[in-house]
Amino acid sequence: MQYRRLGSTGLQLSALSYGAWVTFGHQLGRGEARELIAQCLDAGIIFFDNAEVYAQGEAERIMGDVLVDLRVPRDAFCVSSKVFFGAVAEPKPTQRGLSRKHIRDACDQALARLRVDYLDLYFCHRPDPDVPVAEIVTTMDLLIRQGKVLYWGTSEWPAALIREAIEVARTHGLFAPQMEQPQYNLLHRANLERELAPLCRDHGLGTTIWSPLASGLLTGKYADGVPADSRLNTPGYDWLRELVLARRDELGRGLAQFAALARDLGVPQSTLAIAWCLRNPLVSTVMLGATKRAQLDENFRAVELAERLDGELASRIESCFPIA
Ligand SMILES: NC(=O)c1ccc[n+]([C@@H]2O[C@H](COP(=O)([O-])OP(=O)(O)OC[C@H]3O[C@@H](n4cnc5c(N)ncnc54)[C@H](OP(=O)(O)O)[C@@H]3O)[C@@H](O)[C@H]2O)c1
Repeated sequence: MQYRRLGSTGLQLSALSYGAWVTFGHQLGRGEARELIAQCLDAGIIFFDNAEVYAQGEAERIMGDVLVDLRVPRDAFCVSSKVFFGAVAEPKPTQRGLSRKHIRDACDQALARLRVDYLDLYFCHRPDPDVPVAEIVTTMDLLIRQGKVLYWGTSEWPAALIREAIEVARTHGLFAPQMEQPQYNLLHRANLERELAPLCRDHGLGTTIWSPLASGLLTGKYADGVPADSRLNTPGYDWLRELVLARRDELGRGLAQFAALARDLGVPQSTLAIAWCLRNPLVSTVMLGATKRAQLDENFRAVELAERLDGELASRIESCFPIA
């Protein structure tokens, strides 16, 4: 494994990390989750991503139980949570969003579910137009001073709003956001490469990127339909199925070119797509979402492939898709 600094912080994360979205609590139970987390730890992964909303808290419960069960020392792994969507089916106004009340309650609940006494990374999962930025910054600052959180950041926030939060924090001597969690993959580049890049360079913002395989589309597994055991068949995720299959139909030619390129190189498409993400120095860690041991094995090989991926090959890969 390779380790990278989270932006300008002193924290080192594994270049590959492992997240729980859809997987824990929907696709996998405790036993399978335990096997996959153990496999990640064996490969040197030390960062595990989660959120209050994943399986309404169950994903955090599973991850917490597994990390305790595997007896991983608390100083040997990092864990995150994200606040915004709430952890119940029909949240009341106080049970969702980024008010000081909900952030405080959500943080305490995440700590209990994950069975830790601090979160290494805590993200505001989306912007909340109903809460002043200063309220969010002061609340996150307080959580850090209370020792409940080490670093706070955002996910899918517009660059201008992150900049505003950094300015509020600097003006008042408060802890500023230090990382953003954006989608980043071969089909979704512009936000990180154009909007966020200046913040990464000027303010040392780190990035924990999600969906490196565009929900599996870049693996080629949906070229001829949807395999029965795939995420796209998970009850409640019809919206994801429609989204991914629409992208597949729209990008058919590029996906076929990308498949041919991987075949020529003799590497799995998943390995190549993840290696391409790793090549970007603005990426602090690539968060994986694999649901099977063999998938993780393929994905881990990306670290070694990224080291061999030169500019010429990267351009050939990029030429398969329009920049979006
Ligand atoms: N902040 C946010 O808003 C946000 C949003 C989404 C995700 N995330 C985080 O990012 C993590 C990763 O995102 P993601 O799950 O969308 O990642 P992803 O890697 O783009 O997609 C995972 C999907 O790809 C399939 N897959 C993975 N490796 C494969 C391989 N080698 N061969 C074939 N199929 C493979 C899985 O298969 P199956 O079909 O077999 O299940 C799964 O459905 C999440 O767990 C979560 O922690 C954050």
